[in-house]
Amino acid sequence: MPVVKFKMNPTIVSLGDRSYKILIENSLKMLPRKLKSLNLGTDAVLITNPKINSLFGKSVRYYLKGSGLRVSPVLVPDSERAKSVKEAVKLLGAISKIDGKGKRLCVIALGGGVVGDLAGFVASIYKRGIPYIQIPTTLLAQVDSSIGGKVAIDLTTGKNLTGSFYQPRLVYIDISFIKGLSRRDFISGMAEIIKYGVIKDKALFNYLRDNRSAILRRETKALKEIIARCAKIKADIVSKDERERKSIRTILNFGHTAGHAIETAFGYSGFYSHGEAVGLGMIVAARISNRMGHLSVADLLKIEEMIGSFGLPTKIKRVDTRKIMRSLAYDKKFIHGITRFVLPVRVGRVIIKERISEEMIRQELNRLSLKTTPADDR
Ligand code: GLY
Repeated sequence: MPVVKFKMNPTIVSLGDRSYKILIENSLKMLPRKLKSLNLGTDAVLITNPKINSLFGKSVRYYLKGSGLRVSPVLVPDSERAKSVKEAVKLLGAISKIDGKGKRLCVIALGGGVVGDLAGFVASIYKRGIPYIQIPTTLLAQVDSSIGGKVAIDLTTGKNLTGSFYQPRLVYIDISFIKGLSRRDFISGMAEIIKYGVIKDKALFNYLRDNRSAILRRETKALKEIIARCAKIKADIVSKDERERKSIRTILNFGHTAGHAIETAFGYSGFYSHGEAVGLGMIVAARISNRMGHLSVADLLKIEEMIGSFGLPTKIKRVDTRKIMRSLAYDKKFIHGITRFVLPVRVGRVIIKERISEEMIRQELNRLSLKTTPADDR
């Protein structure tokens, strides 16, 4: 059974003359026609990493050429390290070398969230902005990071601390990419999908519960259903609150406050992927919500069970809670030093709460830890 009947293609991010389509396809066949209709320029800088390039580069280049664009691939490192100031500067240099008289450049971001964020950010600042499109290859990027226009690089003090709001001209989702993902990458994407169920869509949450095997087998129908549903939720939220001025968009940060701090505390080492950290962050937020009396034990258990049932970690290993607390202090979501969390009140609805006691956050982080040092509890 589909979650809710809605028109899957195209989903539109509605932002006046910056509106764009999210297309959900099972191949790249439609890409040339869609690109031609957008009139993006003469030359495409195809930004990707070596791993994605070896998997999909050839076929993507074939379809891009079919659109009439001359294609110049540029490779960036295959990890969060790519989102550094150094890599952004290198990339700008490479783009300016490709640029030249009579050329009109566009950027094609082919990859996961790291490539999309870096490529989008560079597109936003090169010559004060050139068009870019997103071709997300991971589940996480297809349901979340390729949509919405927040593009950024990291600083050593925290994730995404330098960036822009810069919308792509198209998000082209080819769900066949998902079949080739490692189990870990696939599961990481599931964290963001569970997030959408908790913040906005109980029917999606129930669909995930009832169709877990089909989803884990990556059956096309199930993938299409969940990806389309999440893309639609994200598109609707971004259309209403592009710059996060009305707090509508803030709910997308569910699980990300503690999640980002966990990633930062581990130095983006990849010990926890973004999705795994978000899964842990959702548990922290749900437990805080329960302790504050906003979320029932029954719904807390449903959320925790859902996260665990897709194989995401539910305990923090090798944790130094003090490090995570320090990272929290740098988080953008900590407005002027005030703790700010998105808390579920039931499956399908969340609230935003400020001034959550740091002691409570620390205690919940400690409770999630497999090993804590006595100093963590002081
Ligand atoms: N690029 C991710 C977002 O805009 O939310």
